[in-house]
Amino acid sequence: MSVFSELELLPPDPILSIPPIFAADVRKSKINLGVGAYRDASGRPWVLSSVRKAEKVLSEKQLDKEYLPIDGDKNYRLRSFELIFGEGSPHLERAYIAQTVGGTGALSVGGTFLKRAMPESGLYLSRPTWGNHRGIFSRCGYKIGGYDYYHDYRFDFERMMDSLKDIEPESVIVLHGCCHNPTGCDPEPEQWKEMSAMIKDKKIFPFFDLAYQGFGDDLESDALAIRIFANDRHEMAVAASHSKNFGLYGERAGHLTILAASPGELPGIASHVKAVIRSLYSSPPAHGARIVAAILESKELAAEWKEELAGMQNRIFDMRGALAGELSALGSPVDFSFIKNQKGLFTLLGISQQQVQSLKDEQGLYMLPSGRINLAGLNEGNIKTAAKAIRSIL
Ligand SMILES: Cc1ncc(COP(=O)(O)O)c(C=O)c1O
Repeated sequence: MSVFSELELLPPDPILSIPPIFAADVRKSKINLGVGAYRDASGRPWVLSSVRKAEKVLSEKQLDKEYLPIDGDKNYRLRSFELIFGEGSPHLERAYIAQTVGGTGALSVGGTFLKRAMPESGLYLSRPTWGNHRGIFSRCGYKIGGYDYYHDYRFDFERMMDSLKDIEPESVIVLHGCCHNPTGCDPEPEQWKEMSAMIKDKKIFPFFDLAYQGFGDDLESDALAIRIFANDRHEMAVAASHSKNFGLYGERAGHLTILAASPGELPGIASHVKAVIRSLYSSPPAHGARIVAAILESKELAAEWKEELAGMQNRIFDMRGALAGELSALGSPVDFSFIKNQKGLFTLLGISQQQVQSLKDEQGLYMLPSGRINLAGLNEGNIKTAAKAIRSIL
């Protein structure tokens, strides 16, 4: 028997397994709504012009290729913090910020660190949630539980508050800061406030995942939930990604912020987070973080980036309205108007795995087995075909 002969074959990743299968599909009318990335109006990946300009600035500086510090680029860390908490935020003095390998790295480093700080804690994820959450936090050693979140195509506040009652003190709760993935449904500000009070009361530790800041309403509004919690003086963590809002997917730019109860705790926190990073990947990649810092430090580039981000947000919003409109015009028996009111890249169509399979096999329309579609995969050229395909299986 060889060392690996007994290894069971694991199922392919539901998201990242789609691109190669899609590429091999020879049908001209094929449409991929399964990707987790933005696509422009012609269906292609888009490199922001502000990013190209920042890269030019960086290239002219002829920077060296030395390792970054364990917790990353200082300017990137500060500017990224300000993007979430606001310039001059009073929470900076109780914040430790580490640059990480994308948002996934921030979740993973944060999860590992929190499990060391609170070894007895369990961790709770929304039902449903981003597919990778379970894998990331299981690897950190957590026993994973869930809380109700979504019902009848909507965020269900009452059910969520009800299930919070059952969560043990000292547990970690993972909250999507905005643009909930996969549902597109976010709580209202008043609901966040009530949640914050209850979570504080129950001594539950909030861990925000912020992967889509700027894709919901705007940069400020999308950070509101986190600011509400910070102003309520929670000890808390935030894992943020710049993959989507700067279009820097492959550059792996993200960061982890830990807000402590008091500034005196920061050196201890920093030492432990750095120990986690050092043993995992030693130090983060430089290029993406330098791009983000260069953009945020330049008034002109920051203004251009904000416009480009708003452009992406608008196009997704338009596609939401257009798909709901097409389906309604085709006489859909399901009322898809909920798609218009949701936020971010995704919505759940509420169809079965069998229907998803038949859409792929018979019509070349790709999405996740859960029926999650990425609205940015739609454009004027393919939206009618996509809507007809969906209508046909209802
Ligand atoms: C909810 C959520 N969190 C985190 C991430 C991870 O982001 P990154 O690609 O920067 O690792 C994603 C990416 O799809 C996501 O959807």
